[in-house]
Amino acid sequence: MVVRNRIAEMASEVAEWRRDFHAHPELRFEEHRTAARVAELLREFGCDEVIEGFGGTGVVGVIHGSKDSKGRVLGYRADMDALPIIEATGLDHASTNPGKMHACGHDGHTSMLLGAAKYLCETRGFDGKVVLVFQPAEEGGGGARAMLDAGLMERWGVQEIYGMHNWPGMAVGEFGVRSGPLLASADKFEITVRGKGGHGAMPHQAVDTTLVAAQIVVALQSIASRNVHPLRNVVVSVCALHTETETYNVIPDSVHMMGTVRTYDKEVQALVQERIGALAQSTAAAYGAEAELNYLGGPPALINHEAEADLAAQVAQEVAGVVHRDFDPSMGGEDFAEMLEARPGCYLLIGNGDSAALHNPKYEFNDEAIPVGVSWYAEMAEKRMPLG
Ligand code: NI
Repeated sequence: MVVRNRIAEMASEVAEWRRDFHAHPELRFEEHRTAARVAELLREFGCDEVIEGFGGTGVVGVIHGSKDSKGRVLGYRADMDALPIIEATGLDHASTNPGKMHACGHDGHTSMLLGAAKYLCETRGFDGKVVLVFQPAEEGGGGARAMLDAGLMERWGVQEIYGMHNWPGMAVGEFGVRSGPLLASADKFEITVRGKGGHGAMPHQAVDTTLVAAQIVVALQSIASRNVHPLRNVVVSVCALHTETETYNVIPDSVHMMGTVRTYDKEVQALVQERIGALAQSTAAAYGAEAELNYLGGPPALINHEAEADLAAQVAQEVAGVVHRDFDPSMGGEDFAEMLEARPGCYLLIGNGDSAALHNPKYEFNDEAIPVGVSWYAEMAEKRMPLG
């Protein structure tokens, strides 16, 4: 791995910013402290423009290269939000906001991009502009959409956009860069089952909503196995069941279900939506209950653009020496997909070593990855927008 001296020098400072963010996690569109700190640092580095409150709690920084002869503009995006998880790492810099945690490493993503900003402000060894995008609300809040709707791409003339996510299980110092599909569309849905509440000992007088909900959970699994073509990928998961009762002997009047649909295929996505509604309603009807589907949608599949992925991989190869190219796509979701629908670009995975999984209460971003990520951003700007 090749790390420039200056980047190696600043790695511990970047890790300090990261640990500070980690100790002060904020949920979607509430990233006020985080955004203020990001903007403060960008100004300290000497960014040419720093805009706060862009698309909610987003921050945009612009760095001019030492030349701007061709009008080239490169966008880099990092996410800033945390998750509603109770941290169980026991670390010195663990969350001080109960029930909130940086369990997806967005503290690391934001800090690595800040490190790159500091380096690029000092060196400016490129011909064009770098637009730094600090996005709020990646975790199901529509932060990418909010920044796009605020005119992110048009206002600064962004021509290409790149982003990075840490990946547990991949060695630190390695990258994963996949052309084409990387992450799936991630729709949310809710089903409300309404029946007739009653005494748990006298079910014949009630319409049992928990039984209906259970049958719906089972019925929905027939979509993947019996409705969708066996060679196409889809996941339908029911992840939450809520009733208004919390006791042993009351049949609830209603049950609220929440779940997610993942696929790479827009036709499959439409089919699944239709089947969820039909199965929920007809299953409920068979038991004398009613079911209502609220299909909320979500970000589209994340598809990396081929030429930009190749370039990102080339830079990753120079920085890290190990780049995985032919791994399987994931059924995870990521709203950076919306930015890649607006502009060509690539989303890279950066190794986080043998850590706990993303969204696990024991997860921790690996600070050893910081110089690797910062180096990639620096190298990419200089390679994509070379001087002279
Ligand atoms: Ni994440």
